[in-house]
Amino acid sequence: MEPALNPYSPGSGLQPGFLAGRQAEIDAFDLLLVRTERSFSNRGMVLSGLRGVGKTVLLNRLRGLALHHDWLTIKIEGQPGEAGAAEARKTLARELQVASRRYIGRVGLEKFRQLLGTVTSFTAGFGVEGISLGVERDPARAGTGLIEIDLRDLIEDVSAAMRSIRKGFIIFIDEMQDLDEDLLSALVTCQHHAGQLELPFYIVGAGLPNLPARLAEVRSYAERLFDFRLIGTLAEADARESFTVPAKQVGAEYGSKALDILVDVTGRYPYFIQEFGSAMWEVAQASPFTEEDAQAAATIGLQRLDSGFFPSRWDRATPREREYLATMALDGDQGSSTGEIAQRLSAKATSLAPTRGQLIAKGLIYSSEYGKVAFTVPGMADFIKRQHHEI
Ligand SMILES: Nc1ncnc2c1ncn2[C@@H]1O[C@H](COP(=O)(O)OP(=O)(O)O)[C@@H](O)[C@H]1O
Ligand SMILES: [Mg+2]
Repeated sequence: MEPALNPYSPGSGLQPGFLAGRQAEIDAFDLLLVRTERSFSNRGMVLSGLRGVGKTVLLNRLRGLALHHDWLTIKIEGQPGEAGAAEARKTLARELQVASRRYIGRVGLEKFRQLLGTVTSFTAGFGVEGISLGVERDPARAGTGLIEIDLRDLIEDVSAAMRSIRKGFIIFIDEMQDLDEDLLSALVTCQHHAGQLELPFYIVGAGLPNLPARLAEVRSYAERLFDFRLIGTLAEADARESFTVPAKQVGAEYGSKALDILVDVTGRYPYFIQEFGSAMWEVAQASPFTEEDAQAAATIGLQRLDSGFFPSRWDRATPREREYLATMALDGDQGSSTGEIAQRLSAKATSLAPTRGQLIAKGLIYSSEYGKVAFTVPGMADFIKRQHHEI
């Protein structure tokens, strides 16, 4: 088929031609916007799931809805380590400058004077220079350099300003499980505080399946602050549509056998759907796509995953870490007990902790529950077994 018309978008955070099966989350978010504008209270939202299920694209879609409603929004991304912690604070400050500046033109300076003074003070405190907002910093607000206090001032003043025009303020956070403890707990505390003051402020976060547990760890009341949504593989009908709808938009169709084969081989996992759909587009000579086309696409899709998606993770691991991963692979995708891994490697669980920590920091595994670890992408265990001779 014509390469320029390929309607599939394999990748990270790339909007799919058709965002299938996420209407419930979109509706819930829409309700949050509408209810807030009518002064009803709400909870923030947390999306959690493995890599490649579509959390980032959903988060971006939700942000699009909020912008459409003229809300003030910013987006930050968690990154592990000390550099990541500094970066998250800088991005927070920088994004606030940009977002509030964009807003002045619309609502006029008077209503936003306090907001701008506080944002200026907050950004100075975190070492971000940059665009002037045309207002002196307010030395009494958000100027201590202590994240917990400054963030609280900031969120109070920004959301109070937004409330005066019946809108709200949202911080979208991707890879939220990687935020450092200080920032994470400051954010959760602010969400709690805003709820009590009936301020229209929300955190909408996305992260790995351990994110809800991390939130509960930093603040035990976190479990009541958010609407938690598990984002996973698509339902059968939605998986079919995510193949057929984008194809139809450019005038192509699947034969029913062809569609069965591809839905099956992807396990209804969104990233694989895009990868195999794209391979289908490349191999098919004409529409409707046939069973043979689908078989060829399945082979090519899998080869592509085996030469890109999986090795890009495997290659990041050191020999010692690979040994750990290979030991985990024996348990498949559902996860392994850290004690059992230690036993298999004839080592003490504590002596393996640094290796495990490195693998978590590299985003290859996550701690799915206490004493357990699992791969962050589906199919990794099988890949390692297929490649075990290379360990
Ligand atoms: N609901 C969906 N329907 C079809 N494809 C999707 C859907 N959500 C995501 N995708 C595709 O899956 C891939 C991974 O999406 P991404 O948002 O980066 O996942 P995550 O953030 O969970 O790792 C992208 O190629 C994207 O186009
Ligand atoms: Mg993502």
